[in-house]
Amino acid sequence: MIRSVVRGIGSALPKRVVTNREMETMVDTSDEWIVQRTGIRQRYIAGEGETTASLGAEAAKKALEAAGITADDIDMIVCATSTPDNTFPSTAVNIQARLGMTHGFAFDVQAVCTGFVYAITTADAYIRGGLAKRVLVIGAETFSRILDWEDRTTCVLFGDGAGAIVLEASEEQGVNAVRGVLTAHLRSDGSHKDKLYVDGGPSTTGTVGHLRMEGREVFKYAVGMITDVIEQSFAASGLTAEDVDWLVPHQANRRIIDGAAKKLAIPLEKVVITVDQHGNTSAASIPLALSVAVADGRIKKGDLVLLEAMGGGFTWGAVLLRW
Ligand code: ACO
Repeated sequence: MIRSVVRGIGSALPKRVVTNREMETMVDTSDEWIVQRTGIRQRYIAGEGETTASLGAEAAKKALEAAGITADDIDMIVCATSTPDNTFPSTAVNIQARLGMTHGFAFDVQAVCTGFVYAITTADAYIRGGLAKRVLVIGAETFSRILDWEDRTTCVLFGDGAGAIVLEASEEQGVNAVRGVLTAHLRSDGSHKDKLYVDGGPSTTGTVGHLRMEGREVFKYAVGMITDVIEQSFAASGLTAEDVDWLVPHQANRRIIDGAAKKLAIPLEKVVITVDQHGNTSAASIPLALSVAVADGRIKKGDLVLLEAMGGGFTWGAVLLRW
């Protein structure tokens, strides 16, 4: 059976760090309020010349290097983003050009904070379907560019960054001992589309718009949606919460992460948490968190890793993979 195995990972962050203390000088907020409600202590904000595509390309180059291959060996790029450099062409083709790659194909997926889970699932389907052998899966965002910097209820929550992995087709047997993507479950429900959205776009206002969110409403649904889809992953794989070595959640908010881990009975020592350092980087948050945990030696070859996310749409999903 063909499975999609992770061969390398890379990440990129903007140069500028903005702490909660600095946020206090911009809007009526406090370090205490932000830490208590979200767990966020700082975020990285893109400066001049730093864009979704530039960060995505930097992360992709590092992932290729870690995999010991070059862009010549890649046949597909899928980039998850809601903050593209341009309305079109896709950020994925922009990154393709930055990698000097003129073969293969590249496209974006847009599922807001669930983007990376959607992108891995898409890449895995292309690999198992025989349409691609080596895929760069990227999550890259510059949410700072769609924030209303006068709205304290949203601007303190988000940050910029990018992460990328190389997925490669590999002949594997069975479910439990093998490496690669084991299960993927995606969900969406557009009836919630007005709870977290951007109030502009090419076909409506003709402007980029700003992020708007009913925070309490999002919070209300988040833990239940996340845990439902994870239960589906366990049912499909025959694995349980006890088998999970690392839970790598979308990094939106410490309280959502803690709530989901508690409901699933996954101890916090097994949860990778970077929201304190990065804020919510939407589609980039999972690959950024994976990068940190691979670099510091926590995630090792053979570990069972559970990825989950929930975000605008609403969209949500989970991927179980053996590293
Ligand atoms: N600093 C200080 N006070 C603030 C701030 C701020 N940055 N933002 C809001 N407040 C105030 C409000 O004005 C309100 O004041 P009031 O009582 O005088 O009216 C008070 O704090 C409480 O506001 P709530 O919105 O009720 O605060 P809540 O406890 O719900 O926390 C938060 C807000 C953190 C957004 C929470 O609802 C949450 O975590 N929601 C989940 C949303 C999320 O994480 N979204 C990320 C994107 S979606 C995703 O990735 C899953």
